[in-house]
Amino acid sequence: MKEYPNSARILAENRQYIPGGAVSLNRVAGPDIVFVRGAGSRLHDADGNEYIDYHAAFAPHFLGHNDPYVNEAVDRAMRGGASLYGSGTTELEGRLARMVCEHVPCAESAQILNTGSEATYQALRAARGITGRDHVIVMQGGYNGWHNDVACNLMTPLAQIGPRISPGEYPFLPISAGIPKAHQALVHPVNFNDLDSVRWVCERYPIAALITEPILQNIGVVHPQPGYLAGLRALADEFGFVLIFDEVKTGFRHGLGGYAAIAGVEPDMAVFGKAIANGYPIAVLAGKRRFMDVFADADPVRRVLLAGTYNGHPSPTMAAIATIERLRMDDGAVYRHTDRLGALLEAGVLQITRELGIPAAFRRQGSAFCLYFMDHAPVDWHDLAGNHPFAADDAMRHALIERGIYFFPLATKQGSISAAHTEDDIARTLEAWAEVLALPAIQQSLPASSAR
Ligand SMILES: Cc1ncc(COP(=O)(O)O)c(C=O)c1O
Repeated sequence: MKEYPNSARILAENRQYIPGGAVSLNRVAGPDIVFVRGAGSRLHDADGNEYIDYHAAFAPHFLGHNDPYVNEAVDRAMRGGASLYGSGTTELEGRLARMVCEHVPCAESAQILNTGSEATYQALRAARGITGRDHVIVMQGGYNGWHNDVACNLMTPLAQIGPRISPGEYPFLPISAGIPKAHQALVHPVNFNDLDSVRWVCERYPIAALITEPILQNIGVVHPQPGYLAGLRALADEFGFVLIFDEVKTGFRHGLGGYAAIAGVEPDMAVFGKAIANGYPIAVLAGKRRFMDVFADADPVRRVLLAGTYNGHPSPTMAAIATIERLRMDDGAVYRHTDRLGALLEAGVLQITRELGIPAAFRRQGSAFCLYFMDHAPVDWHDLAGNHPFAADDAMRHALIERGIYFFPLATKQGSISAAHTEDDIARTLEAWAEVLALPAIQQSLPASSAR
């Protein structure tokens, strides 16, 4: 096992001043590597190792680390005197909101916040304000941020949730202490790809909103089945709840209009973050005017408060503008490039697994991918948790990291290709992947049913 002495020293020092040693404990999964530099498709750590990066900091870096076009646009704006004014509007925030409305089909107006969690929080609060109802539906195996409404049921062991329920809902199992019981009673997790359960919940509770990632991308890449998103749209119309697509991971990475544009289904509101600004901290909440107008209702009783000292800060706002400019250059060349590399990787991995006799479902949407050791594409969390060998996945990631290929070292976390990746990166990755999947330790951690 490789050692990372400088990383270990920095972490030990940081633990004296930061609980757990890092500012997001979602980022801590061994091996404890401290990165010191990112450039294009590469990461460098404190011990002098270089990696081809597929983690992309949980997916924002769609153009690659430190994209020069984006960085220069930000530098130019800041050197030109742009600052945070905290008074009135700015030309920049208007420009970004207009760009989002130009590309995202459901977006008739937009608000700018700092993080995906803030944006999903505000979307749900708006839905409650609009409908006058308190209950919300979330997805088992989905992730929409850290706040009380959504901090539940992500990668919960099946021993805790029990077998698949349909139609019906799962208990809210907090992934955080401190969520009031009364609040938990308002949140109804159902399985993805299960319309009957959504109907079941809607017939029992006054539902304000359903929030879902249109592809579950915090447990890899779990696609909606044909008709599922359209079915959610129809249920929203029938029961009068607000349909919110959390496109924090899917938006702009899969296309300028978000995954909703690809699927041809319009939510009422949609939330964007991550790839929209290539690593700068920003999120956008967009939607139909009749819903978004709740943030500016002339009646203070009906108005939903949306505020934030840093909303529309010029640095991330300029980064988002420049990122969208880059994404629309050459008629979407970035999407063509990343999709082509994704297809190369997919074909290569499937060839390796075929030759080794390993059951494999390589799930991919453009530049986002995940390899499951399953004989079929997972449809929901129960399917995945019941059939994918997490220990083998973890071991594979650790072995790839040892060979200079960086995936987040936690089973089922999405791989992300960027515009900065090259065919050579993919070839080197496949070489390492072939070596790793042939390791006896990996083979032994695959289930007996996959005997070769
Ligand atoms: C789909 C999705 N929604 C919301 C969030 C929360 O965004 P943030 O971490 O910027 O608060 C995340 C973060 O990973 C996410 O993946």
